Amino acid sequence: MVDTDRFIREAIEEIRREAGDRQVVIALSGGVDSSVCAALAAAAVGERLSPIYVDTGLMRKNETDRIRELFGHLSLSVVDAADEFFAVLEGVVDPEEKRKAIGERFIRIFEREALKTGATALLQGTIFPDRIESEGGIKSHHNVGGMPLECSFECVIEPLRDLYKDEVREVARALDLPAEIQHRMPFPGPGLAVRVLGEVTREKIGIVREANAIVEQELVEPFKPWQCLAALVGLGTGVKGDVRLHGWIVSVRAVNSRDGMTADPLELPFGTLARIASRCTAEIPGVARVVYDVTPKPPATIEYE
Ligand code: XMP
Repeated sequence: MVDTDRFIREAIEEIRREAGDRQVVIALSGGVDSSVCAALAAAAVGERLSPIYVDTGLMRKNETDRIRELFGHLSLSVVDAADEFFAVLEGVVDPEEKRKAIGERFIRIFEREALKTGATALLQGTIFPDRIESEGGIKSHHNVGGMPLECSFECVIEPLRDLYKDEVREVARALDLPAEIQHRMPFPGPGLAVRVLGEVTREKIGIVREANAIVEQELVEPFKPWQCLAALVGLGTGVKGDVRLHGWIVSVRAVNSRDGMTADPLELPFGTLARIASRCTAEIPGVARVVYDVTPKPPATIEYE
C-alpha cells in the first residue's frame, strides 16, 4: 500500500525540481503508468508539457482512436510512425534485438518531436518491475533497457520508478482518472511485436491484432484476468473446407498476477476456450490452430518474447 496523497505531492515536487524551466515531453501510451505520469506532470509543469502518442503500427485494434478520445483534451500529438517501425523490424528475429530496435526508434521519434516544442526533458512511466526485469537481464523493457544509452534529452524523469502496478492503479484512483484507464490491462511498450515469434511483418501483426481482440472480447469482462493475450507462435497444417492449409498457430494466454513478476494461468472453462478457437479459425483467414498456454511465470514470462 502506498500513501497516495503523499506520493502525489512528492512526485509533483520531483517533476518540478528535475524539469526546472525546461519544456517536457511525455511518451503517452494510454496505459495506466503513462496516464498517471501525464496527470502528475500536467499538475507540475502545466503548459510546458507536450504529450506525444506514437502509433507504432503495433498497437491493439482501435487503440489509437480510443487514445485520441481519452486524451484529446491534453492537446495530444499523435505521430503515425508505423512505416518507420516496420522498416527497422525487417529481418530482425532475435527478441532482444527486436526490443532494442523498437526502443531506439521510440527515442529517435521523441527527439524529433521534442525539437518541434524545444523540449529537453523526457518523462517516462517506467515502474519498478520494468527496471528489475531489464536490470536483471530477463528482457529489455523498451522504456528502460531497450532505450539507447545516447539520447539528446538533458534529463529523463521517471516518477513511478519505485511503484508496482497495483500501486500505480491506486494513484490513478486518487487522481480521479477515468475508470477505463485505472483498470486497463498492461500492454507492453513494444506492442504486438513481442506477440509474434520471429520476424515481424504487417501481415502477421494484422493477424495477431485480430486474435488479441477476440481473446479480450471473450475473457476481459467475464473473467477479469490481470492480463490476457494472443500470440503467433508458428505455422502448422490445418484444413479449412476441404482444402489443406498451412496456417498460423495462435497461443492464448490469460494470467493472474500482482505485479507481473510472477503469474498463474487462469483455469478457463473448456467452452470458453473452444469458442475462442472457433472464432479465431473462422474469423481470421490464415489461422489453422489455437492452443491455450498453461505455464506459470516462472518459468515462462507473460509475453512471448
Ligand atoms: P513479462 O513478459 O516480462 O512481462 O513476464 C511482465 C509484464 O510486463 C509487460 N511488459 C512490458 N511492459 N515494456 C512495458 O512497458 C516492455 O518492454 C514490456 N515487456 C513486457 C508485460 O505485458 C507484462 O504485463
